[in-house]
Amino acid sequence: MEQPTQNAKLLAWVDEIAAMCKPANIHWCDGSQEEYDRLCGEMVEAGTMIRLNPEKRPNSYLCRSNPSDVARVEDRTYICSKKEEDAGPTNNWTDPVEMKATLKGLFEGCMAGRTMYVVPFSMGPLGSPIAHIGVQITDSAYAAVNMRIMTRMGSKVLDVLGSDGEFVPCLHTVGAPLAEGEADVPWPCNDDKYIVHFPEDREIWSYGSGYGGNALLGKKCFALRIASTMARDEGWLAEHMLILGLESPEGERTYVSAAFPSACGKTNLAMLIPPQGLDGWKVTTVGDDIAWIKPDENGQLRAINPEAGYFGVAPGTSMDSNPSAMKMLAKNCLFTNVALTDDGDVWWEGMDGDPPAHAIDWKGNDWTPDSETPAAHPNSRFTAPAIECPCLDPAWEDPAGVPISAFIFGGRLSKTFPLAFQAKDWNHGVFLAATMGSEATAAAVGQAAIRRDPMAMLPFCGYNMAKYWGHWLEMGKKISNPPGIFRVNWFRKDENGKFVWPGFGENMRVLEWIVNRVNNKTTGVESPFGTMPTRGDLNWQGLDFDENSFHSIMDIAKANGLAEAAEIGDYFKQFGDALPGELEAERVKLAERLEGAPEVWKITEAA
Ligand code: GTP
Ligand code: SPV
Ligand code: MN
Repeated sequence: MEQPTQNAKLLAWVDEIAAMCKPANIHWCDGSQEEYDRLCGEMVEAGTMIRLNPEKRPNSYLCRSNPSDVARVEDRTYICSKKEEDAGPTNNWTDPVEMKATLKGLFEGCMAGRTMYVVPFSMGPLGSPIAHIGVQITDSAYAAVNMRIMTRMGSKVLDVLGSDGEFVPCLHTVGAPLAEGEADVPWPCNDDKYIVHFPEDREIWSYGSGYGGNALLGKKCFALRIASTMARDEGWLAEHMLILGLESPEGERTYVSAAFPSACGKTNLAMLIPPQGLDGWKVTTVGDDIAWIKPDENGQLRAINPEAGYFGVAPGTSMDSNPSAMKMLAKNCLFTNVALTDDGDVWWEGMDGDPPAHAIDWKGNDWTPDSETPAAHPNSRFTAPAIECPCLDPAWEDPAGVPISAFIFGGRLSKTFPLAFQAKDWNHGVFLAATMGSEATAAAVGQAAIRRDPMAMLPFCGYNMAKYWGHWLEMGKKISNPPGIFRVNWFRKDENGKFVWPGFGENMRVLEWIVNRVNNKTTGVESPFGTMPTRGDLNWQGLDFDENSFHSIMDIAKANGLAEAAEIGDYFKQFGDALPGELEAERVKLAERLEGAPEVWKITEAA
């Protein structure tokens, strides 16, 4: 195939990688529908993909991964900055020279017998000043077709790149060379895995996995880990956030951005349908996973979604929990590790209606409702083009981005943390975001402990986390009209372990309060944690939620709050001198406010 670019740097890199990886062929992806159909067809032939029943799920495919390759591997993910302290205590670090030597050994001949795909892609609208270009070299056709959905991919990117444009080199192999005449397997991969970032060189090397963020290198590797270091250097933010448009019954539109750890409901919130009683509101989706946020010339923060598709968690998605996602999945989608029904369609736990009497599970085995294992893997995913989303925001591709009025942070917390509260100011907000987390069950004692996941970026920050907090604090000084910062918690439980808050569409009640707060239309009361809505501040039309339940998700037990302040103190210690003094000062103020509070701080109407 003829080389479709004059970019000398790209041509030299492709030559160098081909010489090292020794593929049987090289294919430059043009991003066309014809190419996509052909690659999917070849994967059907090879047994990697199953074409779904075209009457039920037109132009859609199911793929089953190797059972050892089902999620991102955080313990095999590395940030190889020159200095260890630049990676910080929350990242795996290895000396970059040593790591490059290890990787070169592994990549030598790694694509034997396979096609090497050259996949040019743009994160962000093509040619937008906020967008950045990457080129992924991969020996996985699965990665190539997923990249066509998740990014703007193909020849048009090479046109924008031109002969001297800059790109981030993203090198990927499944690490399964084929010997002469050796038959392939449906999902090649390697037990040994490396997901490696070189932040100073802005390079990514990924070895051994074909799944999700390990293999679709535009996503977490580029748009978060590498981009977070670019953002630090250039004065912007690369965040693990959804972006949502909220249009009030009066027709006023407000955009908010929200960070939740993986699998805590970003896709659900991004496509929320307002419930009965709040149906005058209209919610539109800009993005469901990643936001690039830059101040404009007036100091207003504006956000773009650098992706072009959604790589969402399938289980739990239903007409009840997320009707927009279900409509979006009707056609032109890829599914990975969900179950196959007898009529050639897909199924997963939590889908509407009764489970099928028989299906083929994600491992390819017979499954019935009596089976002891799930039909779909809990991290099974759909890959869907953004344009299939029925509630896509009209400005989702606006190269200037949308103005952000509020940042929302949340995790899964069964106690202590109220449904919603607002930071007193920017620095307090950075403290709330830096100390957020989700509960992880400590196996030994069966006790809930908080796994801190600052800004939902723990696995995605490409440099020292404490320096990243410092960058957030600095950003607060650069922007003229700082967004309000909020913490929410949909996951508080009662004494029987049941969620008290109905969640999903009902979260609109909290969003409405947030929008009213940032537009100065409502007040709230001061609590030790921050500014909180009283029962009267929230809109209850259409929902029966009694006062006791409200207290059970809003009141603050002083002892729990003080324990939290103490735990944060321990958590902060690991960052040593890198910890910004502002955050420790916020922690001390929190403890002081709690000391002055009653044993149980109860939410009441403002006097
Ligand atoms: P990544 O794609 O991994 O970054 O995660 P995500 O945050 O986009 O995940 P997703 O939205 O798919 O989260 C799915 C899980 O959150 C499912 O188990 C849902 O049932 C659950 N969930 C979503 N919204 C709510 C809610 O409001 N309340 C409760 N209790 N659960 C929710
Ligand atoms: C996440 O884990 O936060 C995801 C899925 O969005 S992956 O792309 O695999 O990282
Ligand atoms: Mn994510």
